Amino acid sequence: METLAPESLAAIPSAPSAATAPTGMAWQDRYLLQLAPMDDIHREFVSLVNALLVAPLEADLLPLMDALVEHTERHFAMEQRWMEESHFPPTACHEDEHTKSLAVVTAVRDKVAAGDAALGRTLARELVPWFDNHVASMDWALATWIARTGYAAAA
Ligand SMILES: [Fe+2]
Ligand SMILES: [Fe+2]
Repeated sequence: METLAPESLAAIPSAPSAATAPTGMAWQDRYLLQLAPMDDIHREFVSLVNALLVAPLEADLLPLMDALVEHTERHFAMEQRWMEESHFPPTACHEDEHTKSLAVVTAVRDKVAAGDAALGRTLARELVPWFDNHVASMDWALATWIARTGYAAAA
């Protein structure tokens, strides 16, 4: 399980060079889990991470980080509600992953607010493989459970 760790973020050099010029995050059809409200919020996530990745280096990333924090809280709260209402068996595991990830996103938002804009970009880079893994494991399991149980997941 890939987990975002503040220690690993701190270990990454914070000044991006031309060699690490940002590339965006594109939507991949493998992210689709055939659950419309989940697919919709995942499109929103990809769009926000992409915005953080492609923003000019001199741009103020704080509004984008604020949007990412707001999104992440809403995204995870929605999945939490579905897990509880549908009695998803591994709720604790998925919830724990969300809690840790939200803590990292919030901590990085505060670092960006304090002037470390590059750390926001570093987080965005790490969120690409994190999301790939999270969708293919935790969110896939939840979407599959919802499909099997017939729980009516609403946004
Ligand atoms: Fe999700
Ligand atoms: Fe999730």
